[in-house]
Amino acid sequence: MPTPSPAPAPPTGPRTARPGAFLREFLRDPLHTASLLPSSRPLAAAASGPVPGTGEPVVVELGPGTGAFTGAIAERLGGRGHHLAVELNPRLAGLLERAHPGLDVAVADALALPALLAERGLGRADVVVSGLPWAAHPATGRTLSAVLAGSLHPHGVLTQFGYTCTRSLPPARRLRRQLAAAFADVTCGPTVWANLPPAFVLTARLPRHP
Ligand SMILES: C[S@@+](CC[C@H](N)C(=O)[O-])C[C@H]1O[C@@H](n2cnc3c(N)ncnc32)[C@H](O)[C@@H]1O
Repeated sequence: MPTPSPAPAPPTGPRTARPGAFLREFLRDPLHTASLLPSSRPLAAAASGPVPGTGEPVVVELGPGTGAFTGAIAERLGGRGHHLAVELNPRLAGLLERAHPGLDVAVADALALPALLAERGLGRADVVVSGLPWAAHPATGRTLSAVLAGSLHPHGVLTQFGYTCTRSLPPARRLRRQLAAAFADVTCGPTVWANLPPAFVLTARLPRHP
């Protein structure tokens, strides 16, 4: 009798990114969803690049949406450490929990990160991968950058993506200023042309702890 073929592996990356669900949430709340489409796999790879390939890191994902970055982070972790996803939208958080059983999903504002880490006894994070629509929130950006810097270990890293077409506009310049106020080292990666629209990743290191 032929050996039954193994069940196919669960889909990861863009296949779990549910563009239909994303568009629906954009139409419901364009300000917070901030994008018509989930990010691409190449952008997810760039944003999750600092997730360590060894050890038991604490990795926080902010604004995971339908999970475009979640699969890439989970693949890099391979079951190690702690992966906490913080999503404001309860419908998107529910989708994410169903697509990634075992993922620690908090329905919360990113600004609550210190309390979320403390509740779990996690201390500070090693990496924060942010998919937040940061540039769209001028009032909280300064506070958010300080909160995230304070939530990271001294060796910790934050990544935040932005769209190349809006890179020189005032909100994007403000984002870089806010990150530079909270981190001693902020670098901008190359344009990811395969993303729609093309995007880049800012990497912030050396958090300035108060
Ligand atoms: C531009 S989408 C990015 C989704 C996904 N990371 C991607 O790249 O496809 C922004 C996401 O951030 C979430 N979000 C917006 N403001 C937030 C906040 N203050 N705290 C947590 N999540 C937030 C939105 O609900 C949405 O899922």
